Amino acid sequence: MLQKINILINEISTISVKTSEELELFRLKYLSKKGILSDLFEDFRNVPVAEKKEVGQKLNQLKQNALDKYNILKSELVLSEDVNEGFDLSRPAYPYSTGSRHPISIVRNEITEIFSRIGFTVSEGPEIEDDDHVFTKLNFAPEHPARDMQDTFYISRISAEDSSPDDILLRTHTSSVQVRVMQNQKPPIRTISPGRVFRNEAISARAHCIFHQVEGLYIDENVSFADLKQTLLFFAREMFGKDTKIRLRPSYFPFTEPSAEMDVSCRICGGKGCNVCKYTGWLEILGCGMVHPNVLDACNIESNKYTGFAFGMGIERLAMLKYQINDLRLYFENDIRFLDQFKTAF
Ligand code: PHE
Repeated sequence: MLQKINILINEISTISVKTSEELELFRLKYLSKKGILSDLFEDFRNVPVAEKKEVGQKLNQLKQNALDKYNILKSELVLSEDVNEGFDLSRPAYPYSTGSRHPISIVRNEITEIFSRIGFTVSEGPEIEDDDHVFTKLNFAPEHPARDMQDTFYISRISAEDSSPDDILLRTHTSSVQVRVMQNQKPPIRTISPGRVFRNEAISARAHCIFHQVEGLYIDENVSFADLKQTLLFFAREMFGKDTKIRLRPSYFPFTEPSAEMDVSCRICGGKGCNVCKYTGWLEILGCGMVHPNVLDACNIESNKYTGFAFGMGIERLAMLKYQINDLRLYFENDIRFLDQFKTAF
């Protein structure tokens, strides 16, 4: 019997299993009620008294070994099953690719975020507009060249000379949203309107028939040109850095009076002059002015009680300055090599 037990101790020490079925067979063979160990304990009764001590110890050792072996085999099996299900924690991770925002969206979000900090809400209007909102209510004279089909994409036009209010067109600027906001809200109004605009231009590195603007509008009692200047200075410093200087040059828009164009000091050369600012030290970024009383009246806002300012800037242009992009067409081509470069921006 001793010999038999020793053989079994050896046998058990060499066993390995690959599946839970094999593990179960191991248990049945050695540890179950009808298994070898049970039989041996049965036989143990017949062992002569003189040998009982020695055989008993060996038998207990065999039982312990079989139990230990069972537990070890079981835990190894659990680990290897994990691996089979694809959890190999030692494997290097895949370099998975995240998307990136378009530079136009990044800059638009940045602009809206800056203005939201000084109380500007966001308003939107339709891209397909009528003559009334894009031109007439904004004080464009009937024969103004912007109404020409060479500049504006018309969807329906009664005749080439005609500019009746029924004309449907693609908006040429986001100033049309000013009109819609003023028609629907009472002052105080403080809002910006980002959006897509369309002009009938030949596509080149410096011009495109589709681009994006952000319009700003502030109407209340006693709004002055100083408020406009301070608001734009705040914006320029937030956008381009706290040392940025601004310069306002007199300009003309039918819907503002007085009107101005704003330049910021060139951030590339710090105002010393370089090829980006064409050696002037300044970069033009937006048009602005005090809302023309005719526009207020056309939108049912009392021009003797309220004043306001408006401004409009091109997002493509700001993104060009920010990221030193030198060709407008890149924004519309969806070339992954271009877009991938904006992954780290928000
Ligand atoms: N709408 C003008 C443009 O497209 C910009 C502008 C907006 C100017 C508001 C003054 C006030 O050029």
